[in-house]
Amino acid sequence: MALRNVRVIGDDVLRKKCREVKELKERDRILIDDMFDTMYEENGVGLAAPQVGVLKRIVVIDTGDNPLVLINPVILETSGEQTGDEGCLSLPGKSGKVTRPNYVKVKALDENMEEFELEATELLARAVCHECDHLDGVLYVDKVEGELNTVEYDDGEEEYWEE
Ligand code: NI
Repeated sequence: MALRNVRVIGDDVLRKKCREVKELKERDRILIDDMFDTMYEENGVGLAAPQVGVLKRIVVIDTGDNPLVLINPVILETSGEQTGDEGCLSLPGKSGKVTRPNYVKVKALDENMEEFELEATELLARAVCHECDHLDGVLYVDKVEGELNTVEYDDGEEEYWEE
């Protein structure tokens, strides 16, 4: 298990556009493993490669039932709307209200570089949109409605998504 440093807002790397992955090398597989370790350690439900300083179009997501790796994700379709509080490991201790689609269809490559499509609703749809935004240098604060809130922690455990 290896943890990576999560970059926080103000770090230029979070504002860059990431490159497509053409071929998955050993170091990319290690990156993906480390991203999962880091996400779980930080109690997040998603993490994008630029958040650990790597400008590649790779995200990991786990909303509780299913760890997902999305390489070169492209959102194909969205519908509906959901408005709720959102957080980000790159903005520790903060949350804010963001409106996202309630449904997304996304295509991506998996760890075998095979294309798949995923349909997601609710929290998973929110996570897909949030993580895909990271790959283009977009943070949820760019879309937040109103003020950012300070998140209260219990037992030192950080909640990524405050519902
Ligand atoms: Ni984030």
